[in-house]
Amino acid sequence: MTDSQLIAKFEEIYGKRPSLMVKAPGRVNLIGEHTDYNDGFVLPMAINRYSVMLASQRNDRVISIYAENYGSLVRFPIDNIEYDNEHKWSNYQRGVIKVLKAEGYDINGMDALLWGDVPVGAGLSSSASVEAATVLTLNALWNLNISPLNMIKFAKQTENEFVGVNCGIMDQFAAFLSKRNHALLLDCRSLEHEYIPVRDARFIICDTRVRRELSNSSYNERREECREGVKVLRKWLPNIETLRDVKVENFIKYREAIPLPVRNRVEHVVKENDRVLKGARFLKAGKFKDFGELMYESHNSLKNLYEVSCYELDLLVDIARETNGVLGARMTGAGFGGCVIVLIEDKVFKKFKTKAAIEYKKEKGLEPNIFVVEASDGARASFLI
Ligand code: GLA
Repeated sequence: MTDSQLIAKFEEIYGKRPSLMVKAPGRVNLIGEHTDYNDGFVLPMAINRYSVMLASQRNDRVISIYAENYGSLVRFPIDNIEYDNEHKWSNYQRGVIKVLKAEGYDINGMDALLWGDVPVGAGLSSSASVEAATVLTLNALWNLNISPLNMIKFAKQTENEFVGVNCGIMDQFAAFLSKRNHALLLDCRSLEHEYIPVRDARFIICDTRVRRELSNSSYNERREECREGVKVLRKWLPNIETLRDVKVENFIKYREAIPLPVRNRVEHVVKENDRVLKGARFLKAGKFKDFGELMYESHNSLKNLYEVSCYELDLLVDIARETNGVLGARMTGAGFGGCVIVLIEDKVFKKFKTKAAIEYKKEKGLEPNIFVVEASDGARASFLI
């Protein structure tokens, strides 16, 4: 929906103009999967798909939110926040408010409207974008002066503690601190980051449209296996804290001592961290073909070693691999469905889109959702009056 359509909808529901509009992007991870919770490196970029929140203050300690995508309105008291099983979408707002209150921020009520075009459950971080939109809305509405790093922290805390998904820091970080025409090379331990220009690279997203319910429990299982790997390796490498601290040569030296499948998980993480750093160098040098090769390597590793891919993701990566002019492809996000990110020469985009749609449909009976994405800015607030 356009900005003016959203404002008109807000006016229709609340009978007044909103004072604030916030846009927070989804993200796609170019490389560095399942490394963030191992204190490693990631290379996401925000995409030009957003969660948009319009809001104005109210002073009766009541929160009212209308979710345009669901055609549904919730109201709840700010001083008694509980998980809502019926309107699950509203738990991001509830969680953020609970976290901010626990941190001692002085907020009051609001009237809000929420709308988004980040596909839900597709591995493009629609949830982090909603959290970011909510934190930033409350920050601007009540003049809280929260630093970007703390906003990131509160958004992640909401996901971990209230929504109950044990994610790392990549998605919330990308939702706040991404920069137009750039990917974000992030060290998930120190939070140091560098912007890598990607203006000349053409990335497209192929959504399998497969959503897997299992992903949360398998995600936690992988985190546990990584911890197990650290425990085993500490016998020889007593100073390691996480898999981030394990060098490839040390993995090779001690690999036989690590039981399967933990050994495979460790191998993925250790080598994936290296791929991120190498990949950032390739992108900086405009070596897109080399970057594309790393994307394929990353996908193979996620498929065979980390075991978080699925038939549909592999199918789209295979179609990409067999198309001239495609430079690289891999699954992106947690896995078990969701999207493939493809690096492609501009001139073959149309050809690839048609080919992928036909071949995928032949196998699966449904069309993938294929679209171009642009590296975009992180969350922004603008006052409307
Ligand atoms: C999800 C999580 C992220 C990250 C990825 C896998 O998107 O939210 O923190 O762990 O999976 O790279």
